[in-house]
Amino acid sequence: MTARAQIGVTGLAVMGRNLARNFARHGYTVAVHNRSYGKTQSLIEEAGDEGDFVPSESMADFVASLERPRKVVIMVKAGAATDAVIDELLPLLEDGDIVVDAGNAHFPDTIRREEALRERGLHFVGTGVSGGEEGALLGPSIMPGGTRESYESLGPILEAISAKVDGTPCCTYVGPGGAGHFVKMVHNGIEYADMQLIAEAYDLLKRGLGATAAEIGQIFAEWNTGDLESFLIEITADVLQHVDAETGSAFVDIVLDQAEQKGTGRWTVQNGLDLGVPITGIAEATFARALSGGVPQREAARGTLPAHATDLQVTDRAAFIEDVRQALYASKVVAYSQGFDQIAAASAEHGWDVDRGAMARIWRGGCIIRARFLNRITEAYERDQQLPLLLADEYFTDAVGNGLPAWRRVVAQAAAAGIPAPAFSSSLAYYDGVRADRLPAALIQAQRDFFGAHTYRRTDREGTFHTLWSGDRTEQEA
Ligand code: 6PG
Repeated sequence: MTARAQIGVTGLAVMGRNLARNFARHGYTVAVHNRSYGKTQSLIEEAGDEGDFVPSESMADFVASLERPRKVVIMVKAGAATDAVIDELLPLLEDGDIVVDAGNAHFPDTIRREEALRERGLHFVGTGVSGGEEGALLGPSIMPGGTRESYESLGPILEAISAKVDGTPCCTYVGPGGAGHFVKMVHNGIEYADMQLIAEAYDLLKRGLGATAAEIGQIFAEWNTGDLESFLIEITADVLQHVDAETGSAFVDIVLDQAEQKGTGRWTVQNGLDLGVPITGIAEATFARALSGGVPQREAARGTLPAHATDLQVTDRAAFIEDVRQALYASKVVAYSQGFDQIAAASAEHGWDVDRGAMARIWRGGCIIRARFLNRITEAYERDQQLPLLLADEYFTDAVGNGLPAWRRVVAQAAAAGIPAPAFSSSLAYYDGVRADRLPAALIQAQRDFFGAHTYRRTDREGTFHTLWSGDRTEQEA
């Protein structure tokens, strides 16, 4: 076996297969391998003429077909399967070889694997890849972690196959250890928030205007020509205008209203809690999926719980549509602002030094949350690399500020009409909380000190104090 392939892909289900084809289409010689040889054969039969593939039946031949330092991309179901492939690869690899995990791994697993492989003299690159099947083939957004050294040889290949926006690749070095998979996880959390916000906007338009799915689809298509321009808005317009062939109904009306998830949103929320970062938009979106799937609870509540709601009365349709658009944009900025806070917190905790502006830049194309307004986020972090809050950047302060009256109207109308808008309303509550002069957290501290002697700090002098609540109520310095 001549070692002539520049990169290898093992795991040829649809994502791996399309990544392999993408490498080949960009002129790389690609070693390909799959646990069962059938998938390798079908790739060669169906796409073999797209470039230079080197198929192997065994893992040993696959590894032997790669030029040194070897670059092996693993594209299998995240979890135990990844460990199994790594175990099989390890005895076959040599110092300096690079193992790339392109699956949706949980970042603590990536940290563990990176440490283990580093001890063996290998580079382990946990990389986020976003864009689904089509992105993998035509240009995904790629978020590689691991060592900088590995990026020197691997980076140019990944950049070549990534999406490009204005000629800039949607791929950059994210940071060491689990940074790549962490950033991909937050990407997915933001994806959940974005989707939930869009769903709430759709629901408000549907109930407020009594409009058909197709009509709402047209509103989304219109929105896609402005600030909200994004992949998710575009596909929403498309989905809403799609008709079910069997029934002739709007497709969205025949889909069961129980949203599922594979787990990346849940991980994001769990991590937000661990870090103490209020990612309320992502959390509400994740819980809204859980609520939708809570069949026994919904059965018990439907038709039983009183609403005491008043019908949503829309007199000026155009004004209402514009209000919902502005509320959507403002809530979306909050969700991103929170997600970027989470990245900053994790980066500080793990010493990853993630450049948030660069993350927004590589999310502009290829990925599921690709959107016009990501340019604005990059610009904000270019203005101030240490920006403590995205919402506090001058552009976003204005953009969200201008939409505030509309945002408040929409949240109030939804509450009065009994229309659930958890992401819209919690984003507004976050906005008002973070900008508040003073929060009722003072009372919580006082309560904690009362029942548990948990102490408090004062507004007027340094130190930590406790009041003798059940004694003479004098204050002691703790
Ligand atoms: C992407 C997507 C992709 C997938 C997620 C979300 O970036 O290409 O985020 O990774 O769609 O896993 O899936 P769930 O909604 O099932 O969690």
